[in-house]
Amino acid sequence: NAYETSKVTFNEKEHYRYLNFLKQGIQICAPDVMQDNRLIELYDTYLKDEEIKAVIDTPIFVEDKLWGVLKCEYKQKHDIDRQDEWFNHILAFYIANLMESARTIEANEEVKKYLKKLEENFDEVISLLSRIVEERDPYTAGHQRKVALIASAIARELGLSEDEQRKLYIAGMLHDIGKLYVPPEILTKPSRLTPIEFEIVKVHPDKGYETLITLESLKEIAEIVRQHHERLDGSGYPKGLKNNQIIKEARILAVADVAEAMLARRPYRPPIPIEEVLKYLDENKGKLFDPEVVEACKKVFSLGMLPQS
Ligand SMILES: [Fe+2]
Repeated sequence: NAYETSKVTFNEKEHYRYLNFLKQGIQICAPDVMQDNRLIELYDTYLKDEEIKAVIDTPIFVEDKLWGVLKCEYKQKHDIDRQDEWFNHILAFYIANLMESARTIEANEEVKKYLKKLEENFDEVISLLSRIVEERDPYTAGHQRKVALIASAIARELGLSEDEQRKLYIAGMLHDIGKLYVPPEILTKPSRLTPIEFEIVKVHPDKGYETLITLESLKEIAEIVRQHHERLDGSGYPKGLKNNQIIKEARILAVADVAEAMLARRPYRPPIPIEEVLKYLDENKGKLFDPEVVEACKKVFSLGMLPQS
């Protein structure tokens, strides 16, 4: 006549026989507990203490293991009919299902935590790689992080997905990784480069691609990095790609890279004021840069999202 939940623990040592029946999936229906020797181990303790005279004990299996027992207990001897048996079976089955779904939800939470951890570790590795490049080139220290911030902000402004924004952040962080192959004398030269030196610097997008393409998780990033010096009119390098031959992400990275580089101090020139940078991008939109990206970049700067340089 009443339902209640209580925790009763049975153990293998004292209740071996009883548990063994349940483990085999047997429902123990005892109209008179004292007449049922399957319950013999429970006579003197549990059944006597609780003054139980009749039981229907139904095993609950979760993931193919005995997880618990649905116990229907009577204070008087009680005739048990098929309906009682079935009712308890169905209820036990229902509980088992709930338990299994609860476990799946828990498992998903675990997976989420694990993925988060992986993502953090991944970000650490990206930052480390980025620092290694900048270590050799103190003039551009912090450049990649700022480009990453501008590029991902432009992506957000363009309404791209969070995945795309993240991709652009990572591409920004690593876009000059190919400079590891450029001699440090050239990278740190305090004056403008000679044409030959510039030819050497121009290998860095391809070298960056070759480095990143070896990592499965950075395959898409590799292509963005390879194209970050391409320009709409074909005047860029390494391939001289034009317009739509250049992937959208690379067109975003290009604008972020140029804007950040102009805004930064160089040994041979002071920082260029923001108005001049935006004017330059504006004058060259449709020619060198994707007009839509330039507009988004202008919005990013006007919104005050400019990272500290
Ligand atoms: Fe570059």
